[in-house]
Amino acid sequence: MKEKLEKLLEEALAALNAAASPEELEQLRVKYLGKKGELTAILKQMGGLSAEERPIVGQVANRVRGEIENCISGMAATLEERAMQEKLIRETVDVTMPGKEYVMGHRHPMNIALAEVKDIFVGMGFTILEGPEVELSDYNFTKLNTEEGHPAREWSDTFYFAEDSSILLRTQTSPMQIRAMETMELPIRVLAPGRVYRKDEVDATHSPMFHQIEGLVVDKGITMASLKATLNAVVEKLYGEGTKTRFRPHHFPFTEPSCEMDVQCHECGGVGCRVCKGEGWIELLGAGMVHPKVLQGCGIDPEVYSGWAFGMGLERMAMRRFKISDLRLIFENDVRFLEQF
Ligand code: PHE
Repeated sequence: MKEKLEKLLEEALAALNAAASPEELEQLRVKYLGKKGELTAILKQMGGLSAEERPIVGQVANRVRGEIENCISGMAATLEERAMQEKLIRETVDVTMPGKEYVMGHRHPMNIALAEVKDIFVGMGFTILEGPEVELSDYNFTKLNTEEGHPAREWSDTFYFAEDSSILLRTQTSPMQIRAMETMELPIRVLAPGRVYRKDEVDATHSPMFHQIEGLVVDKGITMASLKATLNAVVEKLYGEGTKTRFRPHHFPFTEPSCEMDVQCHECGGVGCRVCKGEGWIELLGAGMVHPKVLQGCGIDPEVYSGWAFGMGLERMAMRRFKISDLRLIFENDVRFLEQF
C-alpha cells in the first residue's frame, strides 16, 4: 500500500505541475483528493491492514495528502500570477501611438457677433437678461402700449398658440422691457438678447425666426442724449472709431419719441454703393424714450423716472460683420460655411 501511495503522489505531482489553468487544477484536486478520488480509494483499503501496519501507512497517507495540497496551492498561486502577467501584456497601452483626432467645432458667427455686443454692454454696466420665447400677448403687445386691434397684432404676422390669441411666439424682444421693469430694482440697465418669430417667408433677408437684442435703461434724468451717446459709443466699438450714425424719426407704440438708427456704410463711407443699396447708410436698430404709459403700467412713476430702449437685429449685424450675403446660410448649418469663422 505504501508503494501505491508513493506512486499516487508521484503521478499527482507530475499532473498538477503540468496544469495549465485554474479549472484544470480544480479537476485534478477532485481526481486525487475528492471524496471519490484516488487517495480516498486507497485509504478505504486500510481496513485490511494489520494493527502494526495501519499507523505507518496512515502516516504516509497524511504526508501524501499534505504534499498534494501544498502542490495545489503552490500551483494555484503560479497560475494566478501567470494569468495576471498575460493580462498585463494583453492590456498594455502603447503611449507612443498617435491619438484619435477630434474635429473641433466652430463658434457660430451669430454667437461671435452676440458675444461682442454683450461684452461691450457688460463693460458699460448692463446686466444680461433672458426670457421666454413663448410669451403672453399681454407682454408682447398690451403692456407695450399696443392695444387690441393694433395692426401689429394681426394673425397674419404673428404665431399664436391659443384661439383667443393670449399666447404667442414673441415677435420682438421688447416684452423683456416689461419683465425687467416689473421685477428689477431701479435703476435698470439690461441687455436682453434672444430669438423672435414672425410669419415671414424665407428668403435672402427674411426668416420666420431671427434674433434681436433689446436694451433698456431706466433711471432718474435719462434723456435722448444718453441714448445717442451710448449707441454711438457701441457703434464705434463694433465698427471702428469715427463710424458715423444717423437717427431718423420713427414710430413705435412703446417709445415716445421714437427713432431708427442707421450706421454709415462701411463699404462706401456714405457715398452709396451695392452694400447699402445706394443709400450710404444701413439701418441697425429701432429705439426711443420709454413711453410714460409703459413706465406707469409697470408701476414706475414717469414724473420721477425716464428711460430709453432699443431693439437691434442681430442677423443684420452678423451679416455685415462677416460679409455674409444670404441670411439662409446662417441657419442651414452647413459645416463648409461655419468653418470659415
Ligand atoms: N421692438 C422693435 C422692433 O422689433 C424695436 C424697438 C425696441 C423699438 C425698443 C424701440 C425700442 O422693431
